[in-house]
Amino acid sequence: MENSVTILGIETSCDETSVALMRGGVLLSNIVSSQYIHEQYGGVVPELASRAHQKLIIPVVREALHRSGVHQNEITAVAAAFGPGLMGSLLVGVNFGKTFAFGLGVPFIGVNHMEAHIYSNFIDEPKPNFPLLCLTVSGGHTQLVLMRNDFDYVIVGETRDDAAGEAFDKVAKMLGLGYPGGPKIGGLAKRGNPSAIDFPRSFLNEDRFGFSFSGIKTSVLYYLRDRHLQIAGKTFDDGVPLMPIDDVLLANICASFQSAVVDVLVTKTIDAAKYFGVQDVAVAGGVSANSALRSAMTSAVKKECLRLFIPQIQYCTDNGAMIAEVGYRKFLRGSFSAFNLSAVANADVPVLADKEALSR
Ligand code: KG4
Ligand code: ZN
Repeated sequence: MENSVTILGIETSCDETSVALMRGGVLLSNIVSSQYIHEQYGGVVPELASRAHQKLIIPVVREALHRSGVHQNEITAVAAAFGPGLMGSLLVGVNFGKTFAFGLGVPFIGVNHMEAHIYSNFIDEPKPNFPLLCLTVSGGHTQLVLMRNDFDYVIVGETRDDAAGEAFDKVAKMLGLGYPGGPKIGGLAKRGNPSAIDFPRSFLNEDRFGFSFSGIKTSVLYYLRDRHLQIAGKTFDDGVPLMPIDDVLLANICASFQSAVVDVLVTKTIDAAKYFGVQDVAVAGGVSANSALRSAMTSAVKKECLRLFIPQIQYCTDNGAMIAEVGYRKFLRGSFSAFNLSAVANADVPVLADKEALSR
């Protein structure tokens, strides 16, 4: 029976309309349509994102079915991300998913978007073993999650201000690089010197597995301001014309900023893996596409003789495949959602125990 279970996974939580088909746990198709309309605004405009999802959802579902060779009547269940994310965006996927499932007479499964990011590590072989420690780094979240079993999450640390991806996006905006900033900074950083500028690393000694990225963002701002360098949208500083940033300096700023963020992420992840006695370590979310983070994490994990899991790039940023993966696992457990499930903009990862419970 397991081999014929066919899940349609829908992801519309932010600015990617994505649909995947998975049969028996094997991915058959994964179509991602990114909305470039937001680039000109320097960030995602919620109303435009929602409208774009409405336009795209049916063509993307059609394409995912076509590429997979699956007929809609063969679908066993429909899964859709219900939160966290932008309300107007989530509603498109959730409402389409529920309607499609209802029309087909199959179960509907609501999937938590952050849970799905973690499970993007289970799409390919080999799959991680439990206990697993996952660093989830996206545009809205930075979390260290300990999983003792399937669907058993304990958040052992998270950011108290900006998410790592948000810091990349804000610094990119300051530098006039546009949105999304992560890939742009990552690309420029390849030509820069990561030790050129000593941006601060916020280790928060009192909060061993917690993160803070607002300080480094401000340091980049002060670095530019103190040198009268161009900050996007500004032409003068106290009457002094601002200087353009030359290509070498721009690459150095990107590389140094990226190196400070990566340093903290890697150090805290390894520290937590050792503290909780975990052998398998995973990274997920949009920032896990960053090549500096991927290589620093690979070396650090190797040094500690741990095992590292990082999804293929296409499963790092938002995608339907990770929703289908969770949908498949929930289907096998008979964990279906009611047809009155709605979108929840600030949905948390469904934790089973708090961090203190681990030491009891
Ligand atoms: O997981 P995701 O696609 O959406 C959310 O759930 O937020 O993550 C998007 C975030 C954005 O902040 C983007 O700038 C960042 O991931 N990102 C990157 C890279 N690719 C995407 N950050 C650093 N380096 C990258 N290569
Ligand atoms: Zn995401």
